[in-house]
Amino acid sequence: MEFAVDREDQVDSWQEAMLVYHAALKQINTKLEILNDEFQHVHRYNPIEHIKSRIKTSESIVKKLKRYGYESTIENMVKYINDIAGIRVICSFTSDIYRIADMLRSQNDIRVISVKDYMRHPKESGYKSYHMLVTVPVFLSDRIVDVKVEIQIRTVAMDFWASLEHKINYKFEGRAPEHIRRELVECAKMVSQLDARMLALNEEIQTLGEEKESGTAGG
Ligand code: GTP
Ligand code: MG
Repeated sequence: MEFAVDREDQVDSWQEAMLVYHAALKQINTKLEILNDEFQHVHRYNPIEHIKSRIKTSESIVKKLKRYGYESTIENMVKYINDIAGIRVICSFTSDIYRIADMLRSQNDIRVISVKDYMRHPKESGYKSYHMLVTVPVFLSDRIVDVKVEIQIRTVAMDFWASLEHKINYKFEGRAPEHIRRELVECAKMVSQLDARMLALNEEIQTLGEEKESGTAGG
């Protein structure tokens, strides 16, 4: 992979850039794990089902820079590619999504750069998710670097849909036949209905649980 090493203020080599992005992913991962543990302790349930993280491959970085019309340099990569470090947080219920986003947002060292709320405003394809672009400070031996991490938060059902839709788009290079696209939109509606019903069911179960607990406590 051709990468011109170009002196930039903070990050000056491919290896160092990758080290810093890995460190940022670890930071966010740990933050999410701590929030999940604390939630389990206080509310006796885990808002996070699982977390997936990845570093963008050099091939994809070069492709994206080309698409944006920039030369493949470390400086351009750091400046213009926002999803080099990516984290996907998979929750059980839609209510967990905003809860997790708010908990991260309120941490002092996290700076939110932008938000794309595809929950409130789904894409035409039917895609739903909550995207947050943040920076997190990474402490190196002689300086602190603010590193961008793209966080995608979605439910298990939304993730199921997005994986299949991604596979289909990949197969048809983004030009899937009309009937398949229509079917995907239909499936997305079913995903939303399923998420809403599962949430309602869970809330009912929780209320019943609380009533039972207070009933036992009262004798
Ligand atoms: P890129 O798509 O990465 O060029 O960035 P963007 O500026 O369009 O940002 P956006 O937040 O819309 O998308 C970023 C990421 O979200 C993608 O790389 C996918 O992982 C995911 N994503 C966005 N839209 C869709 C979609 O319609 N279907 C699926 N399966 N994933 C999507
Ligand atoms: Mg996109």
